[in-house]
Amino acid sequence: MKSRDVLISSSGMTPSAWRDRLAALLPGRSVHLAGDAFDKNSIGYAVTWYHQPGSLADLSNLAAIFSLGAGVDHVFADPNLPDVPIARVVDLDLTQRMTEWIVLQVLLHHRHQRRYESRQRDKIWIEDRDQPAAKDVRVGIMGLGELGADAASKLANLGFQVAGWSTRRRELPRILSFAGDTERDEFLARTDILIVLLPHTPVTQGIINLELIKRLARDGALGGPFLINAGRGALQNEVDILAALDAGILQGASLDVFQTEPLPASSRLWSHPAVYVSPHIAAISDHDAISRLIARQITRLEEGGRLEHVVSREQRY
Ligand code: GLV
Repeated sequence: MKSRDVLISSSGMTPSAWRDRLAALLPGRSVHLAGDAFDKNSIGYAVTWYHQPGSLADLSNLAAIFSLGAGVDHVFADPNLPDVPIARVVDLDLTQRMTEWIVLQVLLHHRHQRRYESRQRDKIWIEDRDQPAAKDVRVGIMGLGELGADAASKLANLGFQVAGWSTRRRELPRILSFAGDTERDEFLARTDILIVLLPHTPVTQGIINLELIKRLARDGALGGPFLINAGRGALQNEVDILAALDAGILQGASLDVFQTEPLPASSRLWSHPAVYVSPHIAAISDHDAISRLIARQITRLEEGGRLEHVVSREQRY
């Protein structure tokens, strides 16, 4: 059968590893890499991560585009996208990786890890009774989708007071849900540790700025707010984050994503004493797990089923 072949168009993430796994999981068809010679009419599915804009436009038999990540901003960055469904990654493996990273960062700040790292370096043993309990710390998650909801539930298990902010209200056990622009400030005002897991869209671009940071709680058990961003760098204004840290408006930050990646060596974020920097590894797309997800999606579609995790072109997530 024609037009069932797969094109991997991925900048980074080892494209050949996706090709090898998908070829093994989807026998009887060809899986091509973007630089290969292939018949464009044979391609039914494009599997993408920051593909070359315009490069999908003349795939006349394309049935679906699969993002290799949870985010689809890299797909929408292409102004010449063919009009086919776009599916994102929703997968337990990726969700659990993200929750691990989020819980780790929350605990690093909650338990003052930076303070003890520097004391250990200087061999200083101090009596330190400044140890608030999780029940007295308010965590707020911007973006209460698949990833946010899982992190929220695990943090609630640890005893934190957890709230989420999202476009639509969510009914999640033990999680306080704030929705829409009208409830944003109330959500920020009760948040000691802000976790950002929003998608990057024209609406959320630059949302983490000084004005928002100033609205976070200043009266909490940790003595001031902390910021954790594992969404996208384009959500944050790094000049504002540094200014807030220097002014003591923000106590500390964990950033996995940056306005420019790789983070330039000249960025002060690398060496700021209150900042944890990680290289966009909070939740990597595991080759085996995500290949299985995409293969399941293609098989289901060809058996007459529905594609899952399709994003909205209007909302861009
Ligand atoms: C990672 O950045 C993803 O979108 O999954």
